[in-house]
Amino acid sequence: MIPNPIYILAIESSCDDTAAAVLENNTVLSNVVAGQAIHEQYGGVVPELASRAHQQNIVPVIDAALKKANITKSQLSAIAFTQGPGLMGSLLVGSSFAKSMAQALHIPIIGVNHMHAHILAHFIDEEGFDKPEFPFLALTISGGHTQIVKVISFFDLEIIGETTDDAVGEAFDKSAKILGLPYPGGPLVDKYAQLGNPKAYKFTKPRIPNLDFSFSGLKTQILYFIQNNIKLNANFIEENRNDICASIQNIIIEILMEKLKLAVKQTGITQVAIGGGVSANSGIRNAIKESEAKLGWKTFIPKFEYTTDNAAMIGIVGYHKFLENKFNDISVVSSARIPF
Ligand code: KG4
Ligand code: ZN
Repeated sequence: MIPNPIYILAIESSCDDTAAAVLENNTVLSNVVAGQAIHEQYGGVVPELASRAHQQNIVPVIDAALKKANITKSQLSAIAFTQGPGLMGSLLVGSSFAKSMAQALHIPIIGVNHMHAHILAHFIDEEGFDKPEFPFLALTISGGHTQIVKVISFFDLEIIGETTDDAVGEAFDKSAKILGLPYPGGPLVDKYAQLGNPKAYKFTKPRIPNLDFSFSGLKTQILYFIQNNIKLNANFIEENRNDICASIQNIIIEILMEKLKLAVKQTGITQVAIGGGVSANSGIRNAIKESEAKLGWKTFIPKFEYTTDNAAMIGIVGYHKFLENKFNDISVVSSARIPF
């Protein structure tokens, strides 16, 4: 018998955020995220340091999530955790904790695909946020992924386009690094871009067929552009930071929108949702919103706190899996790469 309400404790530890959330059915009661500032000085996530920080954070984060939700451990129906994709050492902290806690409480565990969660985050019940209807297209853009997914139902998802090299988040972060900005640079590029002219500098789009993406060429293009300009003016970056960021963000938006338009044309599906850390980007959010009036799409942009890595999105997948009895055995293994 399915309990009502279902209380899910969700744990996300795939990269450099330790996160826990408690959901009552499809409503979020608490959503706690502890970031890891340690990586800033290294210009990227250091896997070994990430797993150590998860070890330190996981107990206080879960404790805080339960307290904030005003839920006791004994009320929990199941524990959902990120099974992959992600950094192996980081994933293991979350999955081992989920397994032990669930064993102690005699409740089931539910392994969740992180990218699936970025998509199903749209099904969290939130005032002022509509849920998409099936089928819809999802553009998942994060530090590790860039995909266009045809979402046929909660558990039937088909990747119809993806990056052949770097993820779009990497394009933001690596461009930021070239400009001397700390990691993760994406939010900073966004911040400066809002003050700059997106047409100040012209970058070219890669020629990649169908619905696939490529971002590594763009990164090289930006590197040469900056090196050449610094030769002429040592203060080029400082004097033009806003315009450079706006122009980089502009070409990235053009690349994403071109492929999304093609996906809508090919599938005939006009409901479009975005998800993943890069969907926090203000320029991308505006471009997606504008396509409602311009192209007649119905678009779905997640609440800001559900864009970058969080456990509420793991919890909503856990809830829908719970409803369909999709539990995992204690022998379930984490995996750096897993299919939907
Ligand atoms: O989904 P996420 O939190 O972690 C992964 O699953 O990778 O995504 C992190 C990525 C980073 O590359 C970060 O720079 C980017 O999302 N990001 C942004 C913005 N906020 C986060 N990129 C551009 N503009 C933003 N506002
Ligand atoms: Zn993510």
